[in-house]
Amino acid sequence: MQEIKFYSGENIPLELHKTRIVQKLHLVPIERRLEALYEGGFNTFRLSTLDVFLDMLTDSGTNAMSDNQLSAMMQADDAYAGSQSFFRLQKAVEDVLGKKYYLPVHQGRAAENILSKAYIKSGNLIPMNYHFTTAMAHITENGGKIVELLYDEAYVVNSSNPFKGNMNIEKLEEMIRLHEPKNIPFIRMEASTNLIGGQPFSVQNLRDVRALADKYGIRLVLDASLLGENAYLVMKREEEFKNSTLGEIIRVMTDLSDLVYFSARKLSSSRGGGICTNDIGIYKELEALVPLYEGFLTYGGISVREIESMAVGLYETLDETVICQSPNFIEYLVNELDKKNIPVIKPAGVLGVHLDAMQICSHIPQSQYPAGSLAAALFLISGIRGMERGSISNQRDEYGNETYADMELVRLAVPRRVFTLSQIKYVEDRVNWLYDNRELIGGLKFVYEPPVLRFFMGGLEPVNDWPQRLMAKFKEDFGESL
Ligand code: F0G
Repeated sequence: MQEIKFYSGENIPLELHKTRIVQKLHLVPIERRLEALYEGGFNTFRLSTLDVFLDMLTDSGTNAMSDNQLSAMMQADDAYAGSQSFFRLQKAVEDVLGKKYYLPVHQGRAAENILSKAYIKSGNLIPMNYHFTTAMAHITENGGKIVELLYDEAYVVNSSNPFKGNMNIEKLEEMIRLHEPKNIPFIRMEASTNLIGGQPFSVQNLRDVRALADKYGIRLVLDASLLGENAYLVMKREEEFKNSTLGEIIRVMTDLSDLVYFSARKLSSSRGGGICTNDIGIYKELEALVPLYEGFLTYGGISVREIESMAVGLYETLDETVICQSPNFIEYLVNELDKKNIPVIKPAGVLGVHLDAMQICSHIPQSQYPAGSLAAALFLISGIRGMERGSISNQRDEYGNETYADMELVRLAVPRRVFTLSQIKYVEDRVNWLYDNRELIGGLKFVYEPPVLRFFMGGLEPVNDWPQRLMAKFKEDFGESL
């Protein structure tokens, strides 16, 4: 583990990279931000980046790419079949993830589509530590049902549990016994469990899941989209691995899994995705679906340039200076907000800082979407674009009833090596102001609700004139400041 101490004693996450290509940002006046909210249905997915100052929507496809990744893109081998770029990627997958057979897909959810099409029959149950939106959508589309088996501690916002992403082993065994292994095509473990605040599982927990998978003859599937960061937190938090390298920890985790899939938009700071395994049987079961849905087996819908950057990005996942930057910035921001008693998910996880809208907007009922409201309010007063990860991101049940999320979070993503520390301090400052003025935030209601993955393109409107009142208070306090 690398550590750099400051003489002053201050705890500052120091950047171990330099910036060589930059992009201008726009901080538009609050009046324009208000208009943009109305134009975009109070949904941060529908904003234009011209109106956004700090884009903390996601790290997906927005991590900074390295000089080596960009230069690799220039040597791509354009070929429909048998491209050398593909073989370089295949080797990287084998070297980093330890899997011989690799099926390329255009992004993570395409892997979920193929897995669900191949393995899920109507009435099947899929136990998992927690769902991700697209994984759940594909499973339910194919007639399956997810079963989430976290320990209760996972839902505690202010916690010191280092592994809130752990699968509840006792519940998993009980569930397998009750429903019988034949109805459970696979167990899904998600690295750095996204929707509960980027919380890792421990290697020991994965070993325990593996033991049950072996006992009952069920496949173990690992969603490795955020595997590098999960491995980094294992290094920091799990005694057995404190002297291991990232590469060693990654391999222990992938070796325990029958099938590994990932979004390369996250895992390797590029675009694309994949499914990999050492089991020729699994490979054969899935192989035919790739040309059907994605593209020929040596490109899978990914451009050859991205294939090259993926290969380099996978090797860079082994570099602690690459992987530590985002979690360390997140930890810094979580600590600063926590000092001011602003409710955030603790301990600090990966991917982003997660504001607890259930507490911050406790005056807004879940039926008026507190997390969506907080995300809109934060954009209005700062130009910071976060993502709602609460009830709007949930889907209705099979009878069309609203299902309220366990947690109402606003995720402020910290993509790898993108933001500077002064930008992070601006986030801290504006979140702090908004927290002090939280009573002015009001609820939202749907005016347009798509039937599938409604959070992406759904349109909402405020229940009253709260945005205007919040803007007036901002102007009172900040005057002419943007
Ligand atoms: N699995 C996990 C854990 C993810 O976080 C994502 C995407 C996917 C699968 C799907 O991958 O986007 O390449 O199709 N997460 C993004 C996010 C969208 O913003 O957290 P994809």
